[in-house]
Amino acid sequence: MSLREIIILPDKQLRLVSKPVEKVTPDIRQLVDDMFQTMYDAPGIGLAAIQVAQPLRVITMDLAKPDAEGGETRREPRVFINPEIIARSDELSVYEEGCLSIPEYYEEVERPARVRVRFIDLDGKLREEDAEGLYATCIQHEIDHLNGVLFIDYLSKLKRDRVMKKFTKAAKRGGE
Ligand code: NI
Repeated sequence: MSLREIIILPDKQLRLVSKPVEKVTPDIRQLVDDMFQTMYDAPGIGLAAIQVAQPLRVITMDLAKPDAEGGETRREPRVFINPEIIARSDELSVYEEGCLSIPEYYEEVERPARVRVRFIDLDGKLREEDAEGLYATCIQHEIDHLNGVLFIDYLSKLKRDRVMKKFTKAAKRGGE
């Protein structure tokens, strides 16, 4: 396993539409391992492959809450390959979202409260799951990444322009 670099706004790769995975090869398993390590290290609860510059339809997620007693967190790793939302609730819910590619920026986003997701697991098996709460928000946020969509796209133009400007400036400073 190794850490991979997370690409940051305004990197144009974040706008790419990722390609479906044709087969779960050893390279894909390696990518998944690296994504978990990178995600836990960040730390974050979800990561799309494009965030480590791999335009493939692969998502890692772990929604386990840190142990309140300070013990070791029990991990609940989930992998989604070629995920699709196949049903959405009319009911909406609001969560404050953040993104490892837009560090230290959080805003409330409204999305369907429940979704049904179809995906391939690491064994190449087709699966379906119902998601609600944070799981529903997170899977929608990550699938958006596979389509080149970021959570700031749901904000007002004013807010989006402001965050784009801030990160464009920071990138310029970093590049000097
Ligand atoms: Ni994100």
